[in-house]
Amino acid sequence: MNAAAKVLDPCSASRMMWFDKQDQRALFGDIRDEEHVLCDGRVLKVEPNVIMDFRSLPFEDGAFKLVVFDPPHLKYAGKDSWLRAKYGVLTNDWRDDISKGFAECFRVLASDGVLIFKWAEDQIKVSELLALTDEKPLFGHKSGKREKTHWITFMKRSTMTEAQLPLIPRWAVLPHPPRHAGFLQPDREVPGYTLEQMLEYGRVCAIEAVKQSK
Ligand SMILES: C[S@@+](CC[C@H](N)C(=O)[O-])C[C@H]1O[C@@H](n2cnc3c(N)ncnc32)[C@H](O)[C@@H]1O
Repeated sequence: MNAAAKVLDPCSASRMMWFDKQDQRALFGDIRDEEHVLCDGRVLKVEPNVIMDFRSLPFEDGAFKLVVFDPPHLKYAGKDSWLRAKYGVLTNDWRDDISKGFAECFRVLASDGVLIFKWAEDQIKVSELLALTDEKPLFGHKSGKREKTHWITFMKRSTMTEAQLPLIPRWAVLPHPPRHAGFLQPDREVPGYTLEQMLEYGRVCAIEAVKQSK
């Protein structure tokens, strides 16, 4: 595990979906650390780098560039079933859990960071899940023979404060307004300016100021 990991998988189970299960760019979490022997004799290991609870993640705000959120999708699964061993099960408070999970995943994502949400629509409709976050997805894809597995992409909205935005210079040479005299005497009533013209001039000035700040 790389201490400076940029990718977080907070409920990674046995990392089935990972091409490289030891990818050093990622931090693998789960609420359990267990080993199971499946009915075909294969061993299933859930060995997170860090035991964590997606409802309360032990990371600072904005710590990751990419988070993949693949929580349990089953309300019911046999006590000793392979489904339970592989995917875990939801609690009775699953709406609250997942809603906290979404909030936490977005909190630990950097501004403009990407969240991939995976959901298998077996027992609960994906629309019920999307209702548990205020963030709006960008696009998605369905996979599997019956197209029940949804891969949904979000991008965290920019959370930069004005102080963090690249500073626009205090002094910039701005283009002349459409009618110079009016701007030199702002209190004077100047006939002929529309709100649109004023807004357009403001926009042109802002673009010019940003250009000069680079
Ligand atoms: C659907 S499986 C993830 C499968 C995984 N993506 C893979 O490729 O194998 C969901 C996992 O979430 C874990 N989990 C359940 N509740 C959790 C919680 N509150 N915090 C962290 N992990 C949790 C379960 O133990 C289970 O291993």
